[in-house]
Amino acid sequence: MSERKPVTVPALRARKSGGPRITMLTAYDASMAAALSAGGVDCLLVGDSLGMVVQGSSSTVPVTVADIAYHTRAVARAAGPALVIADLPYLSYATLPQALDSAQQLMQAGAQMVKLEGGGWTTPIVAALAERDVPVCAHLGLTPQSVHKFGGFRVQGRDAAAAERIRVEGLALAEAGAEMVVLECVPSALARQLTAELPIPTIGIGAGPDCDGQVLVCYDFLGMSSGVRPRFVKNFLSGLDSVQAAAAAYCAAVRDGSFPGPEHGYA
Ligand code: KIV
Repeated sequence: MSERKPVTVPALRARKSGGPRITMLTAYDASMAAALSAGGVDCLLVGDSLGMVVQGSSSTVPVTVADIAYHTRAVARAAGPALVIADLPYLSYATLPQALDSAQQLMQAGAQMVKLEGGGWTTPIVAALAERDVPVCAHLGLTPQSVHKFGGFRVQGRDAAAAERIRVEGLALAEAGAEMVVLECVPSALARQLTAELPIPTIGIGAGPDCDGQVLVCYDFLGMSSGVRPRFVKNFLSGLDSVQAAAAAYCAAVRDGSFPGPEHGYA
């Protein structure tokens, strides 16, 4: 069998102009990272969702840079050819000195890209990180670190003004040097428009079938969601006998366009 080449930042950028959709799953430990990477996943995200699914908190707000660095080290050791992305957690990038310090810790823990939430005030932070050659993934729509401002985990960008704000923020983040942008829980039509307009790949979660790539929380894709299961979640382990096989099925479904279907998105 031919060895998979390491996934690189330029290779991900190049997917915007052709090639298979980008596959991403979260991972928080070495065993999960190894299985998902062996299944062919392009990117492993050490998401601050670990605050909820690993630590049992009701939001991502309590997660610290030290938490993400610890899990990034574990994931990076077993990531194989997959590219490791680490989340900058709550208020760890509120000022430029904080952002540089936090990004330094996560990149030195083994991340190859950092992800941060929001647009507008984050644009100069993204520009400063990008100027210093720290690859950045932006994140718009339902940004879970803003859960208290939103009043819950709700679909964003449904009215015309909110949709336009997300569109303008996305264009500014791309201009500032973001390499990719996660679109979480936005109407499928808005994600389609952003995917057409932005020069960088869009990675959807609850954003319909038209993004350049997809991401899911690993426990959700293994059917281990607790509480209310969001509509964009699908159990890929069902009928299979290993996490690696589930990851391969997820990658195949994202790449052939059968996941997500219209039923996994929002109007
Ligand atoms: O923290 C996380 O897992 C995320 C994904 C849901 C995109 O940000």
